[in-house]
Amino acid sequence: MARRGALRPPAEVRRMFDRIAPRYDVMNRLMSLGRDVSWRRAAARAALARRPSVVLDIATGTGDLAFELVAQGASHVVALDFSLEMLRHAARKRLEKQVARITLVCGDAMRLPFRDRSVDACTIGFGLRNLPDYEAAIREFARVLRPGGVLVILETTPFEGPFAPLLRLYFDRVVPWLGGLVSGDRAAYSYLPRSTAAFPRAPELAELLCTAGFADVHFRKLMAGTVALHVAVRGGAEVRADTAAWPVRVPREPMRP
Ligand SMILES: C[S@@+](CC[C@H](N)C(=O)[O-])C[C@H]1O[C@@H](n2cnc3c(N)ncnc32)[C@H](O)[C@@H]1O
Repeated sequence: MARRGALRPPAEVRRMFDRIAPRYDVMNRLMSLGRDVSWRRAAARAALARRPSVVLDIATGTGDLAFELVAQGASHVVALDFSLEMLRHAARKRLEKQVARITLVCGDAMRLPFRDRSVDACTIGFGLRNLPDYEAAIREFARVLRPGGVLVILETTPFEGPFAPLLRLYFDRVVPWLGGLVSGDRAAYSYLPRSTAAFPRAPELAELLCTAGFADVHFRKLMAGTVALHVAVRGGAEVRADTAAWPVRVPREPMRP
């Protein structure tokens, strides 16, 4: 049965991403054979379909999904992560690309520092699998989204079908070896296939989204079924928040809760 949360506790996850931050982007390109760029493109397209004014990119890491959102015309992206090293690389890229429409925020995805119903769209790319409680995380995303707001989840998904043995071989053997070579952290890249295998299958994740009050839940698989893209619309129904309203407002009108 799929796990309800990440294989490792948050502090360990944060340390791991702090460590691999310098080689994170290059490893993504290598192990996905460059395809991760087009997955983020598809995720951004889905998030921007309803022309949101502010998009919150959760677990933004080095910011690739946030940059793609801006490239596709997002007016403002708030990009949040709890790894300072990953954010430092995002900040460097923001400077190099001279992008002003991204606000970087250091924060916890499980306790988003935004008020209820203050965000038009949320994206999370390869982040949900690393959070300690998937259901609670999805409830937290629903809390900050306004009714009718879109949630887009891009995530690796347990391998199924005729290619599964081949994919397992690649992810269990080749990826950790390559990760060790490129980032010097073989353990971080052994965690990737293990956490993917333990993650809910795409229909199970869709079910979690429905349970949290999302409507119009869709998903599609990419790259021989190794990655799933889920899109869901925050329903009008009341979603229970664990936290009282947080003090920081997303810095753009019209964002009143
Ligand atoms: C695999 S990276 C994904 C980065 C980026 N979204 C992408 O598409 O490449 C996962 C990110 O999730 C972040 N993360 C994990 N747990 C988090 C949490 N509880 N709060 C905020 N960020 C978290 C990590 O620091 C890391 O940067």
